[in-house]
Amino acid sequence: MIRHFFFFFLLIHSTLSQKAPVKPSKTWLTLNGSEPVVIARGGYSGLFPDSSQFAFQFAVSTSLPNVIVFCDLQLTKDGQGICQTDMALDNSTIIALVFPKGQKTYNVNGKDVRGWFALDYTSTQLFNDVFLTQNIFTRPSLFDGTLQISAVEDAAALKGGPKFWLNVQYDTFYMQHKLNAALYIEKALRGTDISYISSPEIGFLKALSTKVNKVKTKLILRILDQDVVEPTSNQTYGSIIENLSTIKAFASGILVPKNYIWPVSKDMYLGAATSLVADAHKQGLEVYASGFANDFPASYNYSYDPTDEYLQFIDNSQFSVDGVLTDFPSTASESIACLAGNKNVTKPPKGKTLVISHNGASGMYASCTNLAYQQALDDGADIIDCSVQMSKDGVAFCMDSADLTGDTTAITTFMSRSAKIPEIQKDNGIFSFDLTWSEIQTLKPQLSSPFPDGGMARNPSNKNKGSFTTLSAFLELAKSKAATGILINIENAAYLASRKGLSITDAVATALSNATFDKQSTQKVLIQSDDTSVLSYFKNVTTYQRVLSIKEIISDAPTQATEEIKKYADAVTVPRASIISTSGSFTTAFTSVVKKMHTANISVYVSVLRNEFIALAFDFFADPMVELATYVAEIGVDGVVTDYPATASAYIRSPCSDLNANIPYTILPVQPGSLLSLGPPDVQPPAAAPAPPLNATDIVDPPLPAVISIANTSTPAAAPAGQPRSNSPRDVANVALPLVAIMLFILLSMGL
Ligand SMILES: *[C@@H]1O[C@H](CO)[C@@H](O)[C@H](O)[C@H]1NC(C)=O
Ligand SMILES: *[C@@H]1O[C@H](CO)[C@@H](O)[C@H](O)[C@H]1NC(C)=O
Ligand SMILES: *[C@@H]1O[C@H](CO)[C@@H](O)[C@H](O)[C@H]1NC(C)=O
Ligand SMILES: *[C@@H]1O[C@H](CO)[C@@H](O)[C@H](O)[C@H]1NC(C)=O
Ligand SMILES: *[C@@H]1O[C@H](CO)[C@@H](O)[C@H](O)[C@H]1NC(C)=O
Ligand SMILES: *[C@@H]1O[C@H](CO)[C@@H](O)[C@H](O)[C@H]1NC(C)=O
Ligand SMILES: *[C@@H]1O[C@H](CO)[C@@H](O)[C@H](O)[C@H]1NC(C)=O
Ligand SMILES: *[C@@H]1O[C@H](CO)[C@@H](O)[C@H](O)[C@H]1NC(C)=O
Ligand SMILES: *[C@@H]1O[C@H](CO)[C@@H](O)[C@H](O)[C@H]1NC(C)=O
Ligand SMILES: *[C@@H]1O[C@H](CO)[C@@H](O)[C@H](O)[C@H]1NC(C)=O
Ligand SMILES: *[C@@H]1O[C@H](CO)[C@@H](O)[C@H](O)[C@H]1NC(C)=O
Repeated sequence: MIRHFFFFFLLIHSTLSQKAPVKPSKTWLTLNGSEPVVIARGGYSGLFPDSSQFAFQFAVSTSLPNVIVFCDLQLTKDGQGICQTDMALDNSTIIALVFPKGQKTYNVNGKDVRGWFALDYTSTQLFNDVFLTQNIFTRPSLFDGTLQISAVEDAAALKGGPKFWLNVQYDTFYMQHKLNAALYIEKALRGTDISYISSPEIGFLKALSTKVNKVKTKLILRILDQDVVEPTSNQTYGSIIENLSTIKAFASGILVPKNYIWPVSKDMYLGAATSLVADAHKQGLEVYASGFANDFPASYNYSYDPTDEYLQFIDNSQFSVDGVLTDFPSTASESIACLAGNKNVTKPPKGKTLVISHNGASGMYASCTNLAYQQALDDGADIIDCSVQMSKDGVAFCMDSADLTGDTTAITTFMSRSAKIPEIQKDNGIFSFDLTWSEIQTLKPQLSSPFPDGGMARNPSNKNKGSFTTLSAFLELAKSKAATGILINIENAAYLASRKGLSITDAVATALSNATFDKQSTQKVLIQSDDTSVLSYFKNVTTYQRVLSIKEIISDAPTQATEEIKKYADAVTVPRASIISTSGSFTTAFTSVVKKMHTANISVYVSVLRNEFIALAFDFFADPMVELATYVAEIGVDGVVTDYPATASAYIRSPCSDLNANIPYTILPVQPGSLLSLGPPDVQPPAAAPAPPLNATDIVDPPLPAVISIANTSTPAAAPAGQPRSNSPRDVANVALPLVAIMLFILLSMGL
């Protein structure tokens, strides 16, 4: 039964396809020592509607070659098997619109469930009239209403011949309605290989065990939550799993929610591992862990890097599970093929992409604290960064912005010092140059998230840890820890000189030379500013690399502009959106900015990379590694500025960061626009106006004004106004719009 669907889309990523596996060289702590397997739940259900043919084929084309396709069996009125996760179809299809009166209530294992059920419809009705939708709002709804329900036979016979796993969740229920799953499996799938059959029902597995060839088909007991009662034995799963030898009598393995292995507390911290995997392996039982999804962050311990979680299960020193059941099979694949076993791999040779911290490892500790810098270096950052701010009494220290409200507890103590300074930012703030250093030191650092409304807090247990770092302490740390280099970011120099009597440039120059970051230094020094006059000031130390920060979104860098930049800088830092354009959270194009800069021999650093999935376009599969692959391996940026140096460093150390490496699996960069082009034409987002090209006349800033004497600041009216200068608002364009975009898409695809 092959119905119409399209295969043309399957390589929306790079034209590279995954090669055949070579002999594994690693040994694994799995039951049989082979590498763990990836099981794609409903195909690539993290992207396409669950169990659609798009989802199944895409899982095959983006995962390890031995990926296993997982289908949840439901039965229709006429006994046809379909793949659908929920027994109620209304959650993931348009059935409620097609059969508005079809809602029923059934008792399922002692509980009433209300909805539209497969067993009330014939296969013809379902295949012809009912289409799939995405039921998880953080995933694209672009394909809603366009893809058909999959027959089990279609999912079991995909192009590329992946192994097939059939899960039978509700045998007792279907038996009560005279639909026999065992019989269906026996009859309909004669001639089709099913590598795994799982069920949470012991009675079903025991019945099946006399009917299947156990060499070809493994039977797996699916374990549900601890206090759920197994319908055929009347025991809770919590007690069933206490007795693994009993399970071994009728099953080859168990499929368990991942929390049975690495428990996570209510407040989202990872506890110590249980002995379940080791115990099961002792009994000869395979262990498959379920519940992996990049867009359901499991624990703060993983720092929003989904590969961290897989590695916890497959690359710890005690055990490895035998497989993982996931909605994002490419991320599981890369964890196995690219990242496992790499913890101690040394950094790649010089000349590779620089990992530049953003306020230290600010995803893990409060920005610019000693702990954030220490973490950044431990995590493999090449360059640690200090955005220099000045206190009223002239102490230079590191902080993301002059406004202390975001990264400190200033609001609780110094609200009375709040001021509006349009030259610095639109909104009111409490500014460092209005507080003395000893006042600032009474504050606590504050770890905050750039995604405050996304339910994606950063590690609360680190919220106020660490201490503020003076510029000279920062330099000392960089020296003593032998960082490859430092980046010093300078903003508001003109304002500070003309209005506050503070020379930030002199303060930086003095601190650098005092710390012997001079011409002779073997450590790299990057001086970054959005102000060409600041860069000019540092021109005479020729070993410093000067970096122009271009905050506005641009789509092109004409020769005139790059020639102008060359007069002041060796490199630029640009926001992500100046390199990859997006529309409604889908990528649409690579701009020419990197190419043009490189033609002019200007290095390009991209800013700011963040792990949280809502910062990522859909094309990146909620996987920061795919974004890195695109900027680093495909576009060839010279550095990545990131809140999470550990993730960037893990990518760059991985063999998969070299697209020419002869390896069986790699992390593929995206081809911009290809995911979007798969959607039907009527739900394409409106074409956004392209960002303007960089305008050569906007690049050069007026010379820095003289530093006024502080005595003159008491009469602000008399102070020189200074020339108008470009504002430096926070990099808001970098903060993702996905949630808005998702809502837009839900509306669009509902035809509103
Ligand atoms: C080990 O088990 C996995 C499934 O758990 C299987 O895919 C693999 O082929 C097995 N390897 C060997 C060498 O038997
Ligand atoms: C719909 O599916 C989602 C994801 O599987 C689930 O979280 C939600 O509870 C389901 N809703 C209903 C009504 O079953
Ligand atoms: C199942 O167990 C509960 C208590 O554990 C008991 O009350 C109930 O009668 C049992 N049901 C069956 C069908 O054995
Ligand atoms: C486990 O099951 C076996 C066989 O059913 C039984 O002999 C044994 O007592 C059970 N052990 C526990 C701890 O329940
Ligand atoms: C997870 O993080 C918490 C808090 O930082 C820590 O106490 C715990 O040991 C971590 N868990 C693991 C397994 O490392
Ligand atoms: C990695 O290095 C650490 C510290 O040097 C060491 O304790 C650990 O055993 C090493 N791990 C492996 C897998 O070599
Ligand atoms: C100069 O460096 C020393 C340490 O090398 C440090 O203690 C001192 O604070 C620095 N002075 C200035 C002005 O940066
Ligand atoms: C550049 O040279 C001048 C004159 O030698 C010196 O005063 C100034 O401090 C130097 N600037 C830097 C950043 O070292
Ligand atoms: C490119 O710039 C670097 C400094 O950033 C310089 O060393 C090199 O000579 C330049 N190469 C060309 C071809 O201009
Ligand atoms: C560049 O900016 C100047 C003044 O800001 C403006 O007159 C000119 O039209 C702009 N050029 C382009 C190509 O947009
Ligand atoms: C105050 O500013 C005026 C000009 O704005 C300048 O002439 C004068 O020297 C300044 N006073 C001091 C003490 O620097």
